[in-house]
Amino acid sequence: AFAAGEVTITIDAAKPGPVINKNVYGQFAEHLGTGIYEGMWVGPNSKQPNTKGWRNDVLGALKELHVPLVRWPGGCFADEYHWREGIGPRAKRPVKVNTMWGGVEENNAVGTHEFFDLVELLGADAYVNGNLGTGSNQEMAEWLEYMTSPSKSTLAEMRRKNGRDKPFKVAYFAVGNEAWGCGGQMTPEHYTNLYKNAAEFLKAPKENMPKFIASGGNDNDTKWTETLSANVKHKMDAISFHYYTIPTGKWDVKGAATGFAEDQWISTMKNTLRMDELIQKNVKILDKNDPSKKVGFYVDEWGTWYDVEKGTNSGFLYQQNSLRDAVVAALNFNIFHNYADRVKMTNIAQMVNVLQAMILTDKDKMLLTPTYHAYRMYVPFQDAASLPVTVANNGQYSVGSVSVPQVSASAARGKDGKVYLALVNTNPKEQAEVEINVSGAQAGVARGQLLTAAAMDAHNTFAQPQAVKPVPFEAKASGGKLQVKLPAKAVVVVAVE
Ligand code: AHR
Repeated sequence: AFAAGEVTITIDAAKPGPVINKNVYGQFAEHLGTGIYEGMWVGPNSKQPNTKGWRNDVLGALKELHVPLVRWPGGCFADEYHWREGIGPRAKRPVKVNTMWGGVEENNAVGTHEFFDLVELLGADAYVNGNLGTGSNQEMAEWLEYMTSPSKSTLAEMRRKNGRDKPFKVAYFAVGNEAWGCGGQMTPEHYTNLYKNAAEFLKAPKENMPKFIASGGNDNDTKWTETLSANVKHKMDAISFHYYTIPTGKWDVKGAATGFAEDQWISTMKNTLRMDELIQKNVKILDKNDPSKKVGFYVDEWGTWYDVEKGTNSGFLYQQNSLRDAVVAALNFNIFHNYADRVKMTNIAQMVNVLQAMILTDKDKMLLTPTYHAYRMYVPFQDAASLPVTVANNGQYSVGSVSVPQVSASAARGKDGKVYLALVNTNPKEQAEVEINVSGAQAGVARGQLLTAAAMDAHNTFAQPQAVKPVPFEAKASGGKLQVKLPAKAVVVVAVE
């Protein structure tokens, strides 16, 4: 056993808690920068190998993540998106200016049918975000009918004419996005009334009824959760919430994705760990207004947001992704698991080439980011039963007056029956000695993967796409307790056997 100073983690494998909905590992793809066009969509006539216009290399990599859900078409873009412009022959679709993101031309090549091709190719659920800002209740209602109706209505027949006989499966439908900001600068009271109006007209066949999501607050603002949950008692399956991790905590100078010093490593850890208290505050309100837990709390945008890479369009939100991002992702997963009974969906922003991406592309090249690897390592947590974990004698990692807990842990019983444990070490300089007790299950050995690197900002480039990747990891038990040497700045996921 380790000497004094070790962290002691106890997993109660005999007391499974709520299931961690696989959609906690959801993704977000907005018409923003090269997130969709170039990054994923090249069109069916491209020389780039593709399926129905979607890049095969990117599809293949995303399939490994078992992407459960994709949110589309925004984000802020959703409140300026008119679905009728994205159906029918592509050559005839209107070309618009993407006034939200970069002022570039949007030729509507990716529309409803193309999006459903993507989710169907991935085997994912569809989360469609409706336009409340510049749209209307009628436009949203008709979109839903177009997508879901099995009838011979004019809209359903139009869908058939456009190549799709059977209805699309719309798992989730949201009414607007960030109504407090880009979605229309509304007050929570005003949006709440508009939500109730809109939801009333959103109809679909019973067997294809989406879950309806109201657009909620962000950061410290709990008024949206309060107002919506107190006043909407009908057709609201969840309230969304957005929180981005910014190293400096300031939107004007956010901090660089790479080349940062330790003060920005720790401030990033500190800021991302705020997710816990922010969820907690909102969940407290929901527990008061919705004690039977009918309404979910969906963190449908989160992730790191840095200054854009030099020389790139500032409206494209393109940023590198380093080991720090993988640690951020894992810390958030561990937080989300703790709220599995309310947080049944999250969507990292965003899937490809935008903000905290899984994949970066450069023309025909593609690389997997450290965040991708974190998602891949956590796949066993999708639809797993959360297990209670206590962390005793945890160290603190400090720089100056800023301090965060050194070790973060989470456990679950996977669908394969195995106990999975995820560990994160926030300290970029010191390893942590961790002793693990598993009550209610055997603990002989823990096997899985470790993600770490020599530098805090280690990252993959097109010249060196394999610089950061997971390696096999094993820890043995002594006296029935696993002894884990958790390297500095690391993410570990193991199956305990
Ligand atoms: O993810 C980028 C943007 O961040 C989204 O469009 C918006 O909802 C949020 O402000």
